[in-house]
Amino acid sequence: MSATTPTIDPLTMRRTIGRFATGVAVVTTLEDGEPHGMTVNSLTSVSLDPPLLLVCLTTGARTTDAVVRAGRFTVNILSDRQEEIAMRFARRGADHFEGLTLTYGDHEVPVVPNALAHLECAVDRQFEAGDHVVVIGRVHRVCDRSGEPLAFLGGRFGDLTERGRQPQLWFA
Ligand SMILES: Cc1cc2nc3c(=O)[nH]c(=O)nc-3n(C[C@H](O)[C@H](O)[C@H](O)COP(=O)(O)O)c2cc1C
Repeated sequence: MSATTPTIDPLTMRRTIGRFATGVAVVTTLEDGEPHGMTVNSLTSVSLDPPLLLVCLTTGARTTDAVVRAGRFTVNILSDRQEEIAMRFARRGADHFEGLTLTYGDHEVPVVPNALAHLECAVDRQFEAGDHVVVIGRVHRVCDRSGEPLAFLGGRFGDLTERGRQPQLWFA
């Protein structure tokens, strides 16, 4: 047996964890009157009572710094018709909001138009973990619309197909 810890390179890590299918969201915030936003799939529900969620944001990204400084953010869950929005908010250095008509939530944080749902959050706590900042948000307001979610799996966008069976309400 080798005495050294095997190294998992970032590409292998990305490819392997990419087998875990997720939805896609855009984290938005407003700092000094300027909107910021980035596409994420690291969104996880943390707690129902109190309502907490987390996102992992790359260290040094514009939106990461703005979320930490502003202390508030909104998670916009994208619909299956918003692949263009997902790509737009993933382009480094681009003006992500160009040509978008913005609305604002209670916290004056921009909301992505026609998102499937959005959750307005205050930063509850944050900590660095490797090359990301884990941001835990306390949810203050939610808004939910009808539609289907955008999915992300194996580096590609996709749709989720329901199998037509009765829902399995494991929490009932
Ligand atoms: C589907 C998808 C999911 C992503 N998920 C994350 C994520 O969870 N965390 C993250 O830091 N970056 C993620 N990214 C990359 C960011 O969206 C990208 O680095 C973005 O340009 C950062 O924006 P900014 O530097 O302008 O703030 C993802 C990109 C895509 C396409």
